[in-house]
Amino acid sequence: GGVTTIDPGYKNTGSCESAITFLNGEEGVLRYRGYAIEDLAEKADFLEVAYLLIFGNLPTQEQLDKFHSDIKKESVVDDDIKKILDAFPKTAHPMGVLASLTSALTAFNPSSVNVDSEDDMYNAIVKILGKFPVLVAWTMRKKQGLPLNYGSEDLGYVENILKMMFEKPNKPYEQNDILINALDKLLILHADHEQNCSTSTVRIVGSSHAGLFASLSAGISALWGPLHGGANQAVLEMLEGIKEDGGDTKKYMAKAKDKEDPFRLMGFGHRVYKNFDPRAKIIKKAADEVLGDLGVEDPVLDIAKGLAEEALSDDYFVKRKLYPNVDFYSGIIYRAMGIPVEMFTVMFALGRLPGWIAQWREMRLRKEPIGRPRQIYIGENHREFKSINER
Ligand code: CMC
Repeated sequence: GGVTTIDPGYKNTGSCESAITFLNGEEGVLRYRGYAIEDLAEKADFLEVAYLLIFGNLPTQEQLDKFHSDIKKESVVDDDIKKILDAFPKTAHPMGVLASLTSALTAFNPSSVNVDSEDDMYNAIVKILGKFPVLVAWTMRKKQGLPLNYGSEDLGYVENILKMMFEKPNKPYEQNDILINALDKLLILHADHEQNCSTSTVRIVGSSHAGLFASLSAGISALWGPLHGGANQAVLEMLEGIKEDGGDTKKYMAKAKDKEDPFRLMGFGHRVYKNFDPRAKIIKKAADEVLGDLGVEDPVLDIAKGLAEEALSDDYFVKRKLYPNVDFYSGIIYRAMGIPVEMFTVMFALGRLPGWIAQWREMRLRKEPIGRPRQIYIGENHREFKSINER
């Protein structure tokens, strides 16, 4: 028999049991493996959080050192990846390039596909944690016409990401603590968010026992959309548009409320948070700090704050419980750090990587069945076949 009820958008359908991320949308609570996001964002670094999400506990120094050294051994990609990267037009969106390169890694690392033991899984995990930042940095460098590079043995995980992204030819690279702390915090805030669209994608693709990299590539594609991770790029473009149009936030508020107008206030609303997004609170504060520390004044931050204030006291938004989400202020920080707007969603993917991995690993270890939703058929009933000259 078929099903009799459906739940479009899975608004009220649980797909799995999970011990990774706890989220209470009414109260704005987010915890990774039991730890409050506020504590992790303030006190942990991104690699510790990655370990926590994937393996369940905060690492000891020894565990963290081993994890980091295993990742470093995998921080080189096959030289042929450069040829693939080279074949993309310069105008290609970095998210499409990243999804393709992540999938292409499978070809050069076939042992990462059939992962039947925890050891196999571990090897696939450290491989992707090592290689993914290289792909991210190279995607940006290719767009900027910069030579491709690698990280340094002696740098931390996040330090190396910044080095690979920002190193200029013929210049010694200088670390900047403000950038390191800002990126650490942003990546931690994005690291997991239970069964969101891209994570559900990773789990469902992985449930067919497709390899980890193929599953992640699908997750990257899901994240790309403007209703999901693509919102961070869309927010900045929206704010810029408002600025260029004279900064009239009221006009755009009216457009967002007009049901005839497809315009939405990007960076507002969330499927689960109906009170506030705890990540947005942390990011708003970080935006002020980072811009202050870097000595950057961005008029777009004032437009963002103005919009948020108006929305928070507007009936339409209040009634629908629409609040700024994680993507509302993150782009302002990325831009202040010198990251181009088309790279914003790539930065989200970089942050979400440990979450996707943790969820994939949990799904495989729990031996979950293949994901296969049902439907209610609403098409034609039985029809007699007509040959082509009778139609
Ligand atoms: N601007 C104006 N109206 C909105 C907005 C918005 N940003 N978001 C929701 N609404 C309205 C919507 O029109 C609907 O109104 P009505 O009840 O009159 O038909 C009501 O609020 C409920 O919205 P929904 O679309 O049914 O809610 P959903 O849970 O399906 O969608 C969402 C959630 C995040 C996709 C949506 O709020 C949205 O499109 N926001 C803008 C894009 C965005 O910022 N996405 C990032 C999400 S957070 C991080 C991430 O996932 O990457």
